[in-house]
Amino acid sequence: MSKFIKKITIIKPDDWHVHLRDEKILKKVIHYTGKFYQRALIMPNLDNPITNCLKSIHYKKRILNSMKLKYKFQPLMTCYLTRFTKSKELRNGFLKKIFIAAKLYPNDSTTNSRTGIKNINCITSVLECMEKIGMPLLVHGEEINKNIDIYDRELKFIENTLEPLRKKFPKLKIVLEHITTKDSVEYVKKSNPKYLSATITPHHLMLDRNDMFIGGIQPHLYCLPILKKNTDKEALREVIARGDKHFFLGSDTAPHLCKNKINFFGSAGIFNAPCSLLCYMHVFEEMNALKYFQSFCSENGPKFYNLPINKETITLIKKPCTIIKKVNIDKKNIIIPFLSGQNLNWSLE
Ligand code: DOR
Ligand code: ZN
Repeated sequence: MSKFIKKITIIKPDDWHVHLRDEKILKKVIHYTGKFYQRALIMPNLDNPITNCLKSIHYKKRILNSMKLKYKFQPLMTCYLTRFTKSKELRNGFLKKIFIAAKLYPNDSTTNSRTGIKNINCITSVLECMEKIGMPLLVHGEEINKNIDIYDRELKFIENTLEPLRKKFPKLKIVLEHITTKDSVEYVKKSNPKYLSATITPHHLMLDRNDMFIGGIQPHLYCLPILKKNTDKEALREVIARGDKHFFLGSDTAPHLCKNKINFFGSAGIFNAPCSLLCYMHVFEEMNALKYFQSFCSENGPKFYNLPINKETITLIKKPCTIIKKVNIDKKNIIIPFLSGQNLNWSLE
């Protein structure tokens, strides 16, 4: 049926996992998210992470100031958990709606995670408080240990950290962010979606680990969690194509300057904001699952977060769209987006 669809209108989506960075980069990237999404959950892993209410209030102001008023866009803020996080600060931030959720980065798991959590037992009282007040815990679910193979980090995190955590705090609301494996799909699927849900990125739906090495190493496809096997990608695609309510849109758009991606130590992250929604559309169409496109993009997320569903709509039309080649940050620096210069079948009306 969907082969013949030329136009689709859905409730305006939200992106539940966005890195906007700060200063020059923020100013140049924000409009790509604002164009497609009504709200975005802003990740707190800046060079100087957002660890308290005051920092968050200031960061939110910088975000709002950097936006063109053209878009009615609402940033939703998160708190970066460290071993020094105070329950009182978190409770206050959540009750005053300064924070929507808190993010757990395992120490050294990804960009700016040097002050992430080494031992989850150090934040037991914080987690107790979050469970009590209904504040969602967002997790970068990778077990970081040099003896664990990079492809097994997600599964080991589920076995060694997430499962015990959920036993200890059965009513804690958790989002397993950017899941990448069949094991994660199976694990999340069997839970109560009120307490455990997951976001899925466009790149993990469209690529597998082979894509990183086709025609030479492709630094712009390096992200964390790293791209997995084709069978994992297929499991992610199938679960969203069945309309499973545990899963929702979180692009993990993660801009890095080109010079930091192509370096001795290349940064992890894929800047997909210019095309993320068009990519999801492409996947739902390929899967012949357009009837679930709206729930994935615009309904399952707000339901998990107990937030209202947006009132506005967005229309996509079947017309080729060429993704911008690069974003100029200043005279010397550019950011290369996902699918730079390539064509997709769908455009924003
Ligand atoms: O690829 C990634 N980039 N994964 C993350 O978890 C963080 C993100 C970033 O902030 O660059
Ligand atoms: Zn992220």
